Amino acid sequence: MRINPEEITSVLKKEIETYSGEFQVEEEGTILEVGDGIARIYGLTNCMAGEMLEFSNGSKGVAFNLEESSIGAVILGEYHDLREGDTVKRTDAVLQVPVGEELIGRVVDPLGNPLDGKGPLKTDKFRAVESDAPGIADRQSVKEPLQTGIKAIDSMIPIGRGQRELIIGDRGTGKTAVAIDTSINQKGGDVICVYVAVGQKASTVAGVVQRLTETGAMDYTIVVNASAAMPAPLQYVAPYCGCAMAEYFMYEKDGHTLCVYDDLSKQAASYRQLSLLLRRPPGREAYPGDVFYLHSRLLERSAKLSDDLGAGSLTALPVIETQEGEVSAYIPTNVISITDGQIYLVPELFFAGVRPAIDVGISVSRVGGSAQVKGMKAVAGSLRLDLAQFRELEAFAQLGTELDAATQRQLDRGFRMVEILKQGQYQPMDVAEQILIIWAGSKGKLDDVPVDRVREYEVGFLDFIKATHSEIVEQLTETGEVSEELEALLSPVCDDFTRSFLEGTAPDPRAGAGTVDDEDQGEATEEEGAAEAADAADAEADGADDQEGDEGEDA
Ligand SMILES: Nc1ncnc2c1ncn2[C@@H]1O[C@H](COP(=O)(O)OP(=O)(O)OP(=O)(O)O)[C@@H](O)[C@H]1O
Ligand SMILES: [Mg+2]
Repeated sequence: MRINPEEITSVLKKEIETYSGEFQVEEEGTILEVGDGIARIYGLTNCMAGEMLEFSNGSKGVAFNLEESSIGAVILGEYHDLREGDTVKRTDAVLQVPVGEELIGRVVDPLGNPLDGKGPLKTDKFRAVESDAPGIADRQSVKEPLQTGIKAIDSMIPIGRGQRELIIGDRGTGKTAVAIDTSINQKGGDVICVYVAVGQKASTVAGVVQRLTETGAMDYTIVVNASAAMPAPLQYVAPYCGCAMAEYFMYEKDGHTLCVYDDLSKQAASYRQLSLLLRRPPGREAYPGDVFYLHSRLLERSAKLSDDLGAGSLTALPVIETQEGEVSAYIPTNVISITDGQIYLVPELFFAGVRPAIDVGISVSRVGGSAQVKGMKAVAGSLRLDLAQFRELEAFAQLGTELDAATQRQLDRGFRMVEILKQGQYQPMDVAEQILIIWAGSKGKLDDVPVDRVREYEVGFLDFIKATHSEIVEQLTETGEVSEELEALLSPVCDDFTRSFLEGTAPDPRAGAGTVDDEDQGEATEEEGAAEAADAADAEADGADDQEGDEGEDA
């Protein structure tokens, strides 16, 4: 065999050219102690706080405590097969999660691994789980409404895009329901929703996902689930992960997002568990000293960005569960002070059938007012005060004292307004419809309607208006204002409806009875004609069926 020296020199030259003096160093440590989702690691001397680590079983971790001779890390994932002496690698990166459009409609764990069996995520975009909140110059004040579709909230506790509104209440008072209805109400809009479930039963979350799917809300929703069965570190990190997934749309797509953290009490409990295991000193209620920062650094990331940054928004609806209505406990007071207002749900109202069970007296929205739809602001302006007065009067009236006519009237009006503000679950309402019915109530149009028929009235009235005076609804939707002309138009229509409703001849909305408008009557007859034709067709079809049946028997 002949050796070609040129070949050898060319190979050597290439090798020399591509040679670089660097060599790759991977820093490795060993586990000293592992259990309960945390590990103590020796040897990672250059490790940074918050750095992502890789365990030998593939689980990821985060460096939490940097101590003199070891570091304390939390393990985000499986830890049962890790043993003392196993190796841990540094990654030189902070914890990241996949983000992007591909996540929409999916159910994922906090690290972005699919939980819905719909195959792997095809995204190549990532975002750091922990990131800085935008500064003051990067923000602008809240100015667009985020409609929840819930009458009591949109009228009295309006939420704006970029706001943080706390949903707080005891167990089973409808906290999740408020958040889910709000998500459902974003249908057809431009808001991407992220629902972060922390420490809930997997079956509860499955129920929520099913509801969102049935209502079509999954088309614009990401569900991040850190169920009660998952290790505490995953529950702790889940809200930040969900926030990062929403931030992608806010920063990079200039979009609007809604993040629900359901709930932060459980996240705080998981953080307490981690901290105690890592031997951080316990403080009040055994939470570590920085538990305020746990929630403030999460909620500060919600914002309405300035126009320079694209004017996207991230609205946060954190949920806090109280024990026996105790709002002055440590975590509730913290989160109340961080957020821009709270929706307070109380069991007394819930069990009295007033649902959503919002205590109007102590629920507030500190910034949403400037974002409220004008028409709603006009019709609901005095609602909160009226209801508060009503509650007082109601308590007074229970003493059995004789009431003067004016007081009695106020009471009667109050009972009807309470009825109007009741709303079933999964029935978010369009803002124009909300304005119409609240307007009718506050103008006293329902004063003669028996309290137990108010909800029936509401349904009938709205159907009637939509069927016969769609122009009113259209105008209201378009302008969002209740102008004097509109009121002049609306008032007689409403009176007509009330009269026929009370006479028991509640007009069939399709028939358009009760109006004197010629045009409407024309429409009505046409529709009636159509209905008759349809009936006739049905009858014919029936006849045909019969015949067929007969034939069958004959045969
Ligand atoms: N507006 C409503 N009308 C009728 N029922 C409702 C309404 N809101 C909630 N509910 C019902 O009340 C129950 C509790 O609601 P939900 O699960 O939302 O409460 P929660 O406060 O989130 O409970 P938990 O503390 O268990 O998380 C559910 O069965 C729900 O269907
Ligand atoms: Mg709930």
